[in-house]
Amino acid sequence: MADDLILICAVADVPENDVIGASANGHPLAVYNVDGDIYATDDLCSHGNARLSEGFLDGKLIECPLHAGCFDVTNGAPCTPPVEHPVRAYTLLL
Ligand code: FES
Repeated sequence: MADDLILICAVADVPENDVIGASANGHPLAVYNVDGDIYATDDLCSHGNARLSEGFLDGKLIECPLHAGCFDVTNGAPCTPPVEHPVRAYTLLL
């Protein structure tokens, strides 16, 4: 299973209560720091062509910069319209 482990960034690279863009083998990810807890999801919004890493983090919700739909960064679940489909959330080893 060690082949599935990918280094995406250092925890210190993610400012507290903020989001950054990262990459895992070329796959774009959004990495979040929520009060010191780190989460990662796909960076591409499930509603359109927008990067969640360019959105606005409010607690555990990331607001998409294009149409303001929100996702729960802890599990990728859609929380507010217009998003209906989740984004993939990833398990992180810190
Ligand atoms: Fe993200 Fe529409 S592209 S909410």
